[in-house]
Amino acid sequence: MSNDIPVIAIDGPSASGKGTVAALVAGALGFHYLDSGALYRLTALAAQRSGVAWDDEAGLAELALHLDVRFGDGEIYLRNERVTDDVRTEHCGIGASKVAALPAVRTALLARQHAFRQAPGLVADGRDMGSVVFPDAMLKIFLTATAEERAQRRYKQLMEKGISANLINLLDDLRERDARDSARAVAPLKQEADAVLLDTTQLGIDDAVNFVLKNFKLANSAQVESH
Ligand code: CDP
Repeated sequence: MSNDIPVIAIDGPSASGKGTVAALVAGALGFHYLDSGALYRLTALAAQRSGVAWDDEAGLAELALHLDVRFGDGEIYLRNERVTDDVRTEHCGIGASKVAALPAVRTALLARQHAFRQAPGLVADGRDMGSVVFPDAMLKIFLTATAEERAQRRYKQLMEKGISANLINLLDDLRERDARDSARAVAPLKQEADAVLLDTTQLGIDDAVNFVLKNFKLANSAQVESH
């Protein structure tokens, strides 16, 4: 039963470092990794390319249901075209946050996300991993940092890729995206009651990864004891 396969759900706001931490935790445990945000970004990108508007709920849901995507070796392919960099742009992130607010789009992507739950385990990052997609996750982490720190990180990340950016604009975009993700009616961004808070404002990546691994060990032994 796929429900016996352990899931670590890592949710949190934009640029909090969830993706990096989740991928490293998955690597350390030999687990699979789901970057759920990439699915919303891919839907926004596919829509843009097919001339479907970012508010056309039915059109987007249809696209999302039939997305021809492939993940592998850190790359993302849409209809066999490498789109790893295209989906990471700020423009695509804004589109992702718009299409992600539409319930039919979220429903269309649900089965695809569940399919990532394969032995020996899964680390999934996003906004609603612990609340909607994998509510029975063995460990739920809410990973965050102040908006200023997150804007700095995104700025550095873009600079390293040679993409020019403006810190003030990035901070404004982040705040706007946080507000949209938190205020939406379906699957809003919020810390679940059973999620462990991890504030990385003052924490490096290794410490954040170790924190998750330590909590996973604790959750594991608690489960063994209860059986
Ligand atoms: O990298 P960043 O955190 O900025 O974004 P992301 O995780 O790639 O997600 C892009 C957008 O998709 C977010 O702003 C959310 O609106 C949406 N999203 C969502 O609604 N639910 C998820 N599970 C993951 C992402």
